[in-house]
Amino acid sequence: MNFTATTDSPHGGGIGPVASGTSCGLLRLPRTILFGAGQRRALGSITAGYGRNVLICTDARLGTSPDLAELTASLNANGVSVNVFDRTEPELPLSGVVECVAGLAHTPIDSVIGFGGGSCIDMAKVVALLLSHGGQPSDYYGENAVPGPILPVIAVPTTAGTGSEATPVAVIADPDRAMKVGISSPHLVPQAAICDPELTYSCPASLTAASGIDAVVHLVESYTAVRRTPTAELSSERVFIGKSMFSDSAALEGLSLMGRSLLTAQREPSNGDARRDVMLASFLGGVAIGTGGTSAAHALQYPIGAATHTPHGFGVGALLPYVTRYNLPARVSEFAAIGASLGVASGVDPWTDAVSAIEALDAIVDGLAVPTIAELGVNEADLPTIAEQGLLAKRLVDNNPRQLDQAAMFTIMTNAFRGDRTMPDSRPDKN
Ligand SMILES: NC(=O)c1ccc[n+]([C@@H]2O[C@H](COP(=O)([O-])OP(=O)(O)OC[C@H]3O[C@@H](n4cnc5c(N)ncnc54)[C@H](O)[C@@H]3O)[C@@H](O)[C@H]2O)c1
Repeated sequence: MNFTATTDSPHGGGIGPVASGTSCGLLRLPRTILFGAGQRRALGSITAGYGRNVLICTDARLGTSPDLAELTASLNANGVSVNVFDRTEPELPLSGVVECVAGLAHTPIDSVIGFGGGSCIDMAKVVALLLSHGGQPSDYYGENAVPGPILPVIAVPTTAGTGSEATPVAVIADPDRAMKVGISSPHLVPQAAICDPELTYSCPASLTAASGIDAVVHLVESYTAVRRTPTAELSSERVFIGKSMFSDSAALEGLSLMGRSLLTAQREPSNGDARRDVMLASFLGGVAIGTGGTSAAHALQYPIGAATHTPHGFGVGALLPYVTRYNLPARVSEFAAIGASLGVASGVDPWTDAVSAIEALDAIVDGLAVPTIAELGVNEADLPTIAEQGLLAKRLVDNNPRQLDQAAMFTIMTNAFRGDRTMPDSRPDKN
C-alpha cells in the first residue's frame, strides 16, 4: 500500500503529493496482517503466540465445514486447545453474545478467533471484551467506553466486505434499541488478521454482492468524509477522525481494485485473481473506515436494517447512488479522484470526472443487482421515520461532508425510493 497523502487534484490518479487539508494521518491496525491464498494454514502458529486455549466464534454453516476442521487441526498441532461456539447468527443479535459468554464461565480462554463473516468477527470482538472486562455489551456502547486492552482477537474473514478484521468497531442488534448499535474503541482492533481469499470462493453471488458493495461504500464514505482540524486532541477524543492521508490512500487503492474485479468475482466465484482483489479491497475498506469512518448511507441503513432485517451491505449499496449525488456538490475533487481510481476520469474537467465516477459506482451497484430500498421492504410511508431515525446516528451524520438534517435525509430516502438518479446541476462551494 502506498501510504502517501492524496492530492486534491482530480488528475492525480488519487495517490500523489501531500496537499493542504489532507496532511494529517492516523492508523490503528492489527499487529499481524497476513494476506494470501492458503495463508489460513498459518492460523495455528500465529494463535500459539497468544496462549494455549482459544475460543473460535463461528456460525452453524462454517461450524461443520472442512475449513474449520482443518483450522482446528492446525491449532491442535501447534499445542492450542480449541473451544468452538458455532451459533453466531447473521447481523449479530445480542442474545447470541450473551449465550456464548455465559457458556464460558469456567473455561480458560487466552485468545478469541472470529472465523466467518463480519457477524462472527464482531462476535469475537465483543466476547473478548466481555471476557476481559465483564459486564454487559450495553456498558460499552458508543465510542471509547472500553476501559483497556481485551483478549487478543484473531480475525479470519470468509466474506469480503465488512473489513471488520481491521476495524475498531463491533456492531450488534440489540432488541432494546430501534437500530443496530456499535461498540467503538481502538482496543477492539484485532491483534491479527489472516485474510485468505480462498475462503471466499464458496460465497454465493448474492453474498458476494452484499458484502462487496458494503466495502465499496466504506471506501467511498471514508474518502468523502469530513476533514477535521488536526488538533492534538483529535486522535484521542475520537475513534473516527474523518478523512486523513492514510485512509485516503487505502480508499483509492481499494476502489481501484473493486472497479477492476468486484463484478468478475460475483460472476466467476473461483476466479482467484478477482477474489484476491476483492478481499484486499475489503481489507483496505476496513483500514479506511477504521479511522475515516462512514456517513449518510450507513446512518440510513441502520433503521432500514432494523425494519426490514435485510443484509447490511444491500442497504448501504441501495442508498449509495443517492448519497453520492447529495454529497457531490461538497466533494467534487474527491469524486473526480475516485473517477481516476475507477479508470473513468478524463482529467479535463473535475465536475465531469466526478459525475463519471458516480455513474461508474452506479454501474457497480446495478451490475451486482443490489435490490432497491423498495425491494428491501421499505414502504413510502416509512420514509419520514427512517429519515428521522437515521439522524440519531449522530457520529455518522457528523462525518458526512454535507450537512444532514431531516429534510436532507428525507430527500435522499425519497430519491432512493423513486429511483431518481438526476445528477445535481449546480457546482456549489466545497465544505
Ligand atoms: N465491525 C465492522 O467494522 C463492520 C463493518 C461492516 C459491517 N459489519 C457487520 O457485519 C455483519 C455482516 O457481515 P457479512 O456481510 O460478512 O455477513 P455475515 O457475517 O452476517 O454472514 C452472512 C451469511 O453468510 C454466510 N457465509 C459467510 N461466509 C461464507 C462463505 N465463505 N461461503 C458461504 N456462506 C458464507 C454466513 O454463514 C451467514 O449465513 C453485520 O452485522 C454488519 O453490521 C461490521
